Amino acid sequence: MSDAWNALATHADQLRSVSLASLIDDPNRCDRFVRQLGELHVDLTRHLATNETIDLLLSLAEERSVTAMRDAMFAGEPVNTTEHRPALHVALRNTSDRPILAEGHDVMPAVHAVLRKMRKFCNAIHDGTWTGASGRRIDTVVNIGIGGSDLGPVMATEALRPWWSSGIRARFVSNVDPSHLADTTSDLDPATTLFIIASKTFGTQETLANAHAARRWIVEALGDEAVSRHFVAVSTNAERVENFGIDPENMFEFWDWVGGRYSMWSAIGLSIAVAVGFDQFERMLEGAHEIDCHFRDAPPAENIPIVLGLLDCWYRDCWQCQSRAVLPYDQHLHRLPAYLQQLEMESNGKRTRLDGSPTTHGTAFVVWGEPGTNGQHSFHQMLHQGTTMVPCDFFIAAESCEPTEDGRYDMLVANCLAQAEALARGRDLAQIEGALRASGMDEADVAALAPHKVMPGNRPSTTMLYKRLDPATLGRLIALHEHRVFVQGVIWGIDSFDQWGVELGKHLANEILPSVTGATFGSGDATTQHLTARVHALRNELRAVARRCVG
Ligand code: F6P
Repeated sequence: MSDAWNALATHADQLRSVSLASLIDDPNRCDRFVRQLGELHVDLTRHLATNETIDLLLSLAEERSVTAMRDAMFAGEPVNTTEHRPALHVALRNTSDRPILAEGHDVMPAVHAVLRKMRKFCNAIHDGTWTGASGRRIDTVVNIGIGGSDLGPVMATEALRPWWSSGIRARFVSNVDPSHLADTTSDLDPATTLFIIASKTFGTQETLANAHAARRWIVEALGDEAVSRHFVAVSTNAERVENFGIDPENMFEFWDWVGGRYSMWSAIGLSIAVAVGFDQFERMLEGAHEIDCHFRDAPPAENIPIVLGLLDCWYRDCWQCQSRAVLPYDQHLHRLPAYLQQLEMESNGKRTRLDGSPTTHGTAFVVWGEPGTNGQHSFHQMLHQGTTMVPCDFFIAAESCEPTEDGRYDMLVANCLAQAEALARGRDLAQIEGALRASGMDEADVAALAPHKVMPGNRPSTTMLYKRLDPATLGRLIALHEHRVFVQGVIWGIDSFDQWGVELGKHLANEILPSVTGATFGSGDATTQHLTARVHALRNELRAVARRCVG
């Protein structure tokens, strides 16, 4: 353990006996623990942290060269070391005139060319000059992709529902379970449906299988020649796109310096752009660019992604927290927990450092959550009284996108603020007993019930408050999290941009598939073979029942 980590560990031990309520009540707390970035208000007052904590975390950042690594990322150096690639998602939303170099070469002209092509395509869909094969206007785009080629587009499209252009809707298919495509297309008309096949590699099994099934659906209804009017592709691999049968003219390019889970700003965001219109897509890029400038230029003590990433490491490593809850009090952010799950867990769920040695600290949180207030009636019980401390992130807009006169939005805001306060302050035994006695309960019942009602408090949270969830705000929120995750990765000394852990499962699935189809027997270990045999036995039973019914 380094000096900075040792100092933090000692400091954490001292803080364990300090109550969060007493920290919050410090009248000067807001000076250092409330941050304003344009329209984004980030409240860190409910953290188990003092000025000394922040200073020690900043020393850790210095020791780990966070700013040098950040600068290396912006400079297009191959910070994805195991794949020898830069990670230049910041170039995708670089709305300034600054060139951005990937290994010495300015990527901005290529980025702008694809953005122009996306704009032209979006406009053609919207004004009806791009029609289906039978000449009818497209009214639905279905994005087929998975992981980073799905989660960002779904999350953002859902988040921006109030901004959808009229006459067009976006849907998403990711799961290779045939039900996903079938359910998604069941009420669609092939003549007015356009598929966007989104895959960085254009080699992902699930996406290609779904794309072929979608192709059959179009061809059965409209014939082979309809494919060129009903399919476009987003990929880095033009050859595979062409082999699939999509005209390279109808392909939107991106580059291997864009990580899958960092790609919603690229042509992977085409479904978002079609749904909300290209101008609004650009607002989203502008919001993200604002955060990029802040992350690149603000000194560490003022730098919100740096401070958030450091606090994450503080809880993960000095308080042994295993998970972090993402609690958007914003229905339109209902896919944010799933999106952040991939961003954080695929980026930082690692155990090997850049130099090949094992990590000496815990890495990525389990990231999970649900929109409020739904979560309150489900898992918040555990957040308040469970034996595990779970830092929480609350997201709330001052104003609803759906203004009503009936006070429901005020209820939502009040609930969000109340949850964070309840988590932080709790209720001790004396307070509970006093309240029960005041309600007229007899002493025996007070003694029996009071311990169950104790709320330990001291549970930390961040509240992110914004005016209204519009495209720029969404861009800001997501870019903030990308950089937060980057900071965590630098502290832990890992490569946040690779994902080798997903490979073995893909490889084994290919080996086991012939046994599942019945082409061969005996793939996989003893348990896999036993389960595969059981799948076949159950299928046979179903077939026998079907035969009896027909007979
Ligand atoms: O399996 C993980 C992964 O490689 C993700 O990192 C990626 O976002 C996803 O699969 C989809 O990959 P592609 O865009 O190449 O289809």
